[in-house]
Amino acid sequence: MKSQPPLGSAELPGPRSREICAREQRVASPGAQKIATLAGLALERGEGALLWDVDGNAYIDFAAGIGVASIGHGHPRYARALAEQVARFSVGSFSTERRARLLELLVESAPGNLDRAQLFSSGAEAVEAALRLAKSATSRHEVMGFWGGFHGKTGGVLGILGSEFKHGLGPLAPGTYLSPYPDPYRPPAGLRGDDLATACLEFLRQKIRSETTNRIAAIVVEPVQGTAGNVFPPLGFLSGLRDLATEIGALLIVDEMITGFGRTGRMFACGRDGVVPDVLLVGKGMGGGYPVSGLIARDAFAQARPYALPSGNSSSYGGNPLAAAAALATLEILREEELVERSRRVGAVLLERLRAVAHRVPWIGHVEGEGLLLRLELVRDRSTREPLPGAICVEIFQECLRRGLLTMAYSPSVRINPPLVLDEELAERGAAILAEVLELVAERHSGI
Ligand SMILES: Cc1ncc(COP(=O)(O)O)c(C=O)c1O
Repeated sequence: MKSQPPLGSAELPGPRSREICAREQRVASPGAQKIATLAGLALERGEGALLWDVDGNAYIDFAAGIGVASIGHGHPRYARALAEQVARFSVGSFSTERRARLLELLVESAPGNLDRAQLFSSGAEAVEAALRLAKSATSRHEVMGFWGGFHGKTGGVLGILGSEFKHGLGPLAPGTYLSPYPDPYRPPAGLRGDDLATACLEFLRQKIRSETTNRIAAIVVEPVQGTAGNVFPPLGFLSGLRDLATEIGALLIVDEMITGFGRTGRMFACGRDGVVPDVLLVGKGMGGGYPVSGLIARDAFAQARPYALPSGNSSSYGGNPLAAAAALATLEILREEELVERSRRVGAVLLERLRAVAHRVPWIGHVEGEGLLLRLELVRDRSTREPLPGAICVEIFQECLRRGLLTMAYSPSVRINPPLVLDEELAERGAAILAEVLELVAERHSGI
């Protein structure tokens, strides 16, 4: 077993990080990702599930660039694949050996009869393409999304974002609707009952009946909501959506940008419910850090026009030689190092440790997860489930960082999604740091 480095530092950010971040702050626009802004660190390198800043401090990474670094940091084979390709050529959309193999692998990995794949350069771009595909395939225009859903920040998807993010950014695309998502810990709109999945499905049916023009092209859903806090719906919800989409002639678009390629301990999270979507969207972890995303669809839908017209889906960078090299290396590493299985195994250890912490720390209202996609809800009071105030959460985040754990604890809905190469030892060390910090900060605020 490798010896682990000392983690974190009492003095964070260190002097070099402070200097580099201050230089950036003078010229960078505001609006950068919260985790980076709060940490104030300049990073230098990574190895596996560890990151080092420019002052030489090491951190266990429980965030993975928000679910992107599936194969961890600095993987030698990934680095070689990109270096080789960059030395040959980097641009354009001509076929390459690597891209042909990548597309074959994507189609082989996808469930059921999804047999056409197309590459893009960001998640939002792939979601936009899926909406164009659905409109082309159905000659309809309405789209249904869910409360809490997240699919990117471009204009075409704003209407299906189920959060305050879109406030002030209207008007939204006409024909976009949202319906409650079954969050068992925080049931939406007072929907109760033993069968939350059925209640949400019935709500959706009523919504379609009473609010839409009954021209639904697509239902777009995350099989587990990532941005909303790694929210796992009850089994039966996704399969119910599958049945409903078939019944009304809409496409079921499952957005697996976060959940895909092993994150939940299965290749795809739609497998939890045995669902084969009409369109599967992938990104983030499939590229190991290179900006690449994909849309995998049934042939009959992928042939629909205008989606399928020449240049109907091309973009400057979509599936370029570098993207193909990066994604192919990532998927080969995932297979050869059996990272889907590892995500299941190490995720189970981490979940068990966090459950043990929850016994000691009353602030933990709820813990759940599958594979290395875990949800931890921090609450003021377990019985009311009132979220812990944001300022205390930021304190928890900073104290974790000082002890060498980079985790998204700055919000009361803590999302834990480390690289899939995390091992049991680092998982346990990370959980121990979180436990120590929660106890320390709870003690500090014992009056609240
Ligand atoms: C489920 C899901 N879909 C789409 C996106 C958008 O991806 P990108 O940021 O690459 O545009 C995200 C990003 O977090 C996501 O979580």
